[in-house]
Amino acid sequence: MTRHAQIIGIGSYLPEHILTNSELERMVETSDEWIVTRTGIRERRVVADGETTSDLAVRAAALAIERAGISGDEIDLIVLGTTSPDHIFPSTACMTQAKLGLTCPAVDVMAACTSFIYALHYGSSVIEAGRAQTVLIIGAEALTRLVDFGDRSTCVLFGDGAGAAVLRVSDEPGVEAVLLGADGTGADQLNVPGGGAAHPLTAETLAAGDQYLKMNGNEVFKFAVRVIPRATMEVLEASGHTTDDLAWLVPHQANKRIIDTIEERLGIDDSRVFCNVDRTGNTSSASIPLALDELYTSGQLAPGDLLALVGFGAGLTWGAAVVRWSMSAPNKKE
Ligand code: UT7
Repeated sequence: MTRHAQIIGIGSYLPEHILTNSELERMVETSDEWIVTRTGIRERRVVADGETTSDLAVRAAALAIERAGISGDEIDLIVLGTTSPDHIFPSTACMTQAKLGLTCPAVDVMAACTSFIYALHYGSSVIEAGRAQTVLIIGAEALTRLVDFGDRSTCVLFGDGAGAAVLRVSDEPGVEAVLLGADGTGADQLNVPGGGAAHPLTAETLAAGDQYLKMNGNEVFKFAVRVIPRATMEVLEASGHTTDDLAWLVPHQANKRIIDTIEERLGIDDSRVFCNVDRTGNTSSASIPLALDELYTSGQLAPGDLLALVGFGAGLTWGAAVVRWSMSAPNKKE
């Protein structure tokens, strides 16, 4: 039998607190009109005091495990993507593993907003190689903790949330192809300069605001609309498909204008391109599994549907995956 990895469970969690554009208008010199026109974002979620990335990850993962109909003991590995880990170390995957009461190996991947695609790559690869039967992959972020709420060029963009998927071995195709990319020469375009070994937190680095996310938005925008259409075409070709075969294109939710440009360059109709950035903002690693969960719970996915998942972000990194959906529509009561 050829070993494939299928998504057999999906789940997500958004923190309760909603931060609207009009609230941001009272914090920095911005306007709802500017934010909506330039990004498509209307509101985003923000973690509660004391709530961390692993808390969000646990909520999403527990739902994915329940929907997969498996017991936590069956999970052989946890791969968690995050840009806003609870700590520099130990990994947020380990924090999540303990909170879930599991004992399997657990590791973080850090590819910024592309982290979920990287996690999907590792999870599906170990299953295909016969080194695991069942892998829990997670994208989770408390990104607002890294945002300077005095910097209007970034604070209007980001939000918190988590999504998770359970991958399991199958003789039927699931994850059909994954393509990953990285270009470290673009590292300065989007980063948190302080807090790591290069610039440990000191009174000086704190005073300079180096603990906060910095971004050259224009450059990241140009990078995204350049690499994503190409990566999507390449991953479709690698799996023997064309854009016509897609039920859904599920892009990383960073900016509605980026999504519109990508769909235009790919020639895919708006009705087949998922977008919820208006309600979530940019949740980095969490955005693609959050999107999948929303498509699933709203009954817009059927077994056999072909999906292209595409992401880009700091690093610079990018990734694209073609996935054959296999979960049946949820029970009405969900
Ligand atoms: O997950 C991956 C990571 N991130 C991304 O994908 C982000 C990619 N980039 C973007 O989405 C866009 O570049 C932004 C939304 C960040 C910015 O949009 P833009 O159309 O590229 O605007 P800009 O940076 O060129 O700024 C235009 C103007 C500037 O004023 P001047 O210099 O023209 O007077 C900014 O100072 O808008 C100003 N501006 C704002 N005005 C009101 C920047 N932020 C704001 C704001 N409210 N929040």
